[in-house]
Amino acid sequence: MRPVVLVLTGAEGLGTRLRASLGAVPASLRLHRFPDGETRVRIEGDLSGRAVILLASLDRPDAKLVPLLFAAATARELGARSVGLVAPYLPYMRQDLAFHRGESVGARHFAGILSASVDWLLTVDPHLHRVRRLDELFTVPAEAVHAAPAIAAWIRAEVRDPLVLGPDQESEQWVEAVARGADAPWAVLTKHRHGDRKVELTLPDLGVPAGRRPVLVDDIISTGATMRQAVALLRAAGSPAPWCVAVHAVFAGDAETELRRAGAREVVTSNTLPHPTNRLDVLPALVEGVRGILARAPAARMAGCP
Ligand code: R5P
Repeated sequence: MRPVVLVLTGAEGLGTRLRASLGAVPASLRLHRFPDGETRVRIEGDLSGRAVILLASLDRPDAKLVPLLFAAATARELGARSVGLVAPYLPYMRQDLAFHRGESVGARHFAGILSASVDWLLTVDPHLHRVRRLDELFTVPAEAVHAAPAIAAWIRAEVRDPLVLGPDQESEQWVEAVARGADAPWAVLTKHRHGDRKVELTLPDLGVPAGRRPVLVDDIISTGATMRQAVALLRAAGSPAPWCVAVHAVFAGDAETELRRAGAREVVTSNTLPHPTNRLDVLPALVEGVRGILARAPAARMAGCP
């Protein structure tokens, strides 16, 4: 039985292609916003006994959460055998610790809300730092696929003699994988964060060896403060203008413009979130991830796998 893919606002581009790749049966989801700001979800299509996949673009997540939860509940009421969530960008993952007594831990709370609503989750490069694994947060199967192969292929095609640089210690996990795939040397800077938009970075001792072209790679560009400061340090050290590559194009406010103004040579992102800087395609990784999850799921719960 073929699955159903229901696409929430913002994920239409990937949604059309995910449907086609999985051979999904036609179905649609529509949102109605009432004048008072409340939401009604309407699903059209036959969901009965099928694996339903919700695809959601979860940047600026708060307003998107209620429609997502309503969509999952409605899909179950319409007879879905299982309801999974593909969230190429998983928000709240950087809020993984209460730094002061009384603060919410967004990563844990958000994962708790999703776990109560869907049967499984698939994402791309979640920000795992103090929490090392998704299953420390989620009580349903939660898996990640990675953009490193797509980033490495892009570097191989576009940058001669690259030096792959991560702007902070946390970035080591994906920078190393990217550098290996691009057959390039790599290093990471050190970062201290003093506020939402205030970071302090230090270049590694080696600097940028002569003849090497720096490619900064991070998981997220949000305010752009991290990338901007890395660019400024490199330029001040006499390095050529660096490429700035990120998996998730969150871009708060004028972050992209400011980054270009700071001297980035080019800003490149993956299509986990739709943005004009998207050059890297995560769809093949997502399709493989969904197929794997549906194939591994017990037949009784996942009768809709392709
Ligand atoms: C956190 O350490 C992440 O890996 C990114 O470096 C960070 O989220 C980027 O945020 P911003 O663009 O606001 O500096």
